[in-house]
Amino acid sequence: MCGIVGITAEKPFSVKGELILALKKLEYRGYDSAGFATTEGVYDKEVGSIDVLESRINPKLKTTTGIAHTRWATHGGVTRVNAHPHFDSEKGLFIVHNGIIENYAQLKAQLEERGYKFITKTDTEVIVNYLHEKMKTMSPRQAILSFFKDAKGTYAVVFFRKGEKTLYAFKKDSPLCLGICDGEMILASDIYAFSHKTTRTVFFEDYELAEVTPNNYQFYNRSGKLDKKPVEIEWEREPVMKRRFKHFMLKEIYEQPVAAQRLIRSLRTTQSHRVKQISKMIKGAKRILFLACGTSYHASLIGAYLLSRLGYEAHAVIASEFENFSVIDNKTLVFAVSQSGETMDVISVLKDIKHYKPKIVAIVNYPYSTVHRMADNYIEIMAGQEICVAATKTFTNTLIAMYELARVLGNHISLDRIPAKIKEVISKNDLRVRKLAKKLSNNKDIFVLGHRISYPIAREVALKLKEISYIHAEGMMAGELKHGTIALVEPGVPVIGLIHETNRERMESALQEVEAHGADVYTIGNSSKQFELPKRLNEEEYSIAATIIGHLLSYYIARNNNLPIDKPRNLAKSVTVK
Ligand code: G6P
Repeated sequence: MCGIVGITAEKPFSVKGELILALKKLEYRGYDSAGFATTEGVYDKEVGSIDVLESRINPKLKTTTGIAHTRWATHGGVTRVNAHPHFDSEKGLFIVHNGIIENYAQLKAQLEERGYKFITKTDTEVIVNYLHEKMKTMSPRQAILSFFKDAKGTYAVVFFRKGEKTLYAFKKDSPLCLGICDGEMILASDIYAFSHKTTRTVFFEDYELAEVTPNNYQFYNRSGKLDKKPVEIEWEREPVMKRRFKHFMLKEIYEQPVAAQRLIRSLRTTQSHRVKQISKMIKGAKRILFLACGTSYHASLIGAYLLSRLGYEAHAVIASEFENFSVIDNKTLVFAVSQSGETMDVISVLKDIKHYKPKIVAIVNYPYSTVHRMADNYIEIMAGQEICVAATKTFTNTLIAMYELARVLGNHISLDRIPAKIKEVISKNDLRVRKLAKKLSNNKDIFVLGHRISYPIAREVALKLKEISYIHAEGMMAGELKHGTIALVEPGVPVIGLIHETNRERMESALQEVEAHGADVYTIGNSSKQFELPKRLNEEEYSIAATIIGHLLSYYIARNNNLPIDKPRNLAKSVTVK
């Protein structure tokens, strides 16, 4: 799981100003080490974020052709030597790779038998040596076609031969696209790498390769030449800056009223026909399955809750166990919920279930992402680019998309008040949250309880406490507590209860139980002593309000403990490997 970039241009460009700038836009994909190489054979790589590498690059360094990589280690530890680019022993071939070569040990053994020496512990070094060997007798294109036959796994690869201006790129499963500028071509893991330069994009499909020069590109698949035309991408050209905020996470929480408003408007205008089509698809389905991971899974639980209450058979299933825990056929409607649209666990399920011929609806923040392109229909949640690894505004907007679908299907929900309510929740509670965060900053465990709509929110708040604040947190159904977890409740353990009028009775009884065992009880609800919620929130508005308070709480705890909030350890924003 990594980000890759390759640029080739007519005129020399600054490595720092162009190549590294594009790479930085992919840093959300991994940030444990980074590197670059130019066609002159100049290269550098280093452990740590891209900033560490960047600080060492001479601002005057220019090239016409280069590749760069930001890494999230899978095979081989986080070391300088394991960082990309990788090269053959003569340093004639430089390569960057995103993905995992599953049969790398077998390929490596074959190459070793033929005299190849390996200096890293990565699967990527196998690709470079494989191509190197094949290219002794074949063209780069033939070598790639042979790799398609011999390699098992997932990969997006860009490479060049020292001294040449041609970039070679190919992929299977991992994302790859080409941005077309005047006299310059940019290959990258996603469109955001070149969103500041061009809107003209060509997407790679599996088993496609391209030969790319500054003014031209040619795609091929296993059957021969392809004529692929660029598509024009529409995106907001908003600058991605922290502005007055200390972290992207806080900025992204604070911009939710605007992001929510933008989505609500589009659901009623440009996206309204799709909402109607999707609601018809729901009505015509035998069962509805939500497929997702992490935060998107929690949003999916809310989707399943809403549709179940409207009388549809709906379930949310975590992608990595999807096929083990669901029945799928051609009357099944699958909602693939993924803000990035690139999560490999989700993509691989979509591929695996294809033969059942279910209908697929994507709910994504990244238009043109792989999940979007695999779906029959989609909703774009329009949250704007989210930089912090932990999802905040994308979660809220996914909920809003679900609420709109439920509204069209007959639920009495009004979205109109949501942006103003979000604003009120933030302004009334920021200081209050800071106060509680101080109190909770040194805790080792926190329990978050919910019921009905607040059960998924309890899980979401607990996930954020783990991801950002590194506190062990359990988010669970209030009613399930007494069946085991209550054994962990001892005097002084904080328990946060998410109370709305619709779940008050069940919530209060669970909180009384934990209080009886000495827990410190805090609540997010109308009678809360710690927080002030707007009056008369309906269930859906409450779910968003409680989420925002929970997200802010994990943010301020992490801030008190000086943690790397936007880039927490061992995580990546979108996990593009299984
Ligand atoms: C990673 C991130 C999570 C995220 C999950 C799903 O694990 O660390 O924060 O919720 O991926 O991401 P998606 O892009 O599919 O919504």
